Amino acid sequence: MSVKFAEISEQDFSILSKMLTEKYGIKLPMEKRIMFQARLQVRLRGLGYASFSDYRDFVLNPEHTKQELREMIDLVSTNKTEFFRENEHFELLKKDILPQLMSMINLEEPFLNCWSAGCSKGHEAFTLAMIFDDFERNYLPGLDFHILGTDVSRQIIQYAQKGIYPFCESEQIPEEFRKRYLLKSKNQTIPKIKIANTLRSRVDFCYGNLMDEEYGLKSRFQIIFLRNTLIYFETKTQTAILRKVIKQLQPGGFLFIGHSESLINRGLPIESVAPSVYQKTIL
Ligand SMILES: C[S@@+](CC[C@H](N)C(=O)[O-])C[C@H]1O[C@@H](n2cnc3c(N)ncnc32)[C@H](O)[C@@H]1O
Repeated sequence: MSVKFAEISEQDFSILSKMLTEKYGIKLPMEKRIMFQARLQVRLRGLGYASFSDYRDFVLNPEHTKQELREMIDLVSTNKTEFFRENEHFELLKKDILPQLMSMINLEEPFLNCWSAGCSKGHEAFTLAMIFDDFERNYLPGLDFHILGTDVSRQIIQYAQKGIYPFCESEQIPEEFRKRYLLKSKNQTIPKIKIANTLRSRVDFCYGNLMDEEYGLKSRFQIIFLRNTLIYFETKTQTAILRKVIKQLQPGGFLFIGHSESLINRGLPIESVAPSVYQKTIL
């Protein structure tokens, strides 16, 4: 039995992609139509629809819209990530930024609060946890730290919460850290690694949409990683998000963006301190 491949018209793609952009910020120009069509096939089949026009009507039904947009974003968002991605940032943290931040911290009860926004499967948050834990061991015993990872894909957040990854993904992690922070599965057929509890207890993952008016975050952060996420948004949307994100940063705190992203001429209260690294202005 052959499975029918559903095709989406330009008009239906415009309707659905506009809804996704409004809710989640991700821009989906017409060139993404074929990608969208391919990724949604499984969903259509699961719902028993043979055509995108039936699926469009289903999504437009107010009873289904909210839930179905969640399903769509899980399928459409780009979640590429890895441990120690764009490693220059972690080197800079170790050598310059953490020592600098220590001068701003209450050394009697040193606490570092960090946010990985658009955290995907959690590699970035756990890399930060390794760097902070190592810093604590070597330079500041007693340093307490917490990392919050947020992402708009609920499916990806559930993955991150487990802290379990294919063994091959540990290759980017320095050997010393692999020994200290990873547990290996006994299963040789599909080898996996698990992040040790010492780190997992310092990291929390939860759903968070950067497009929301308010982020509902109670504390402010000394470090925010917002890397390789803004790149999928329109410039105007990026700037609006950055204003809200920077509000969550303590004055003097640091914002990291992806290597291919830029914040030039946006009138934001930050100054560049290194490529793709910014410090919030102290007024
Ligand atoms: C390419 S990954 C980047 C992961 C990680 N920051 C890194 O650099 O390796 C981008 C992530 O941003 C998330 N994302 C997209 N739109 C978002 C939004 N409106 N709010 C929060 N996260 C979003 C996606 O689900 C995806 O997991």
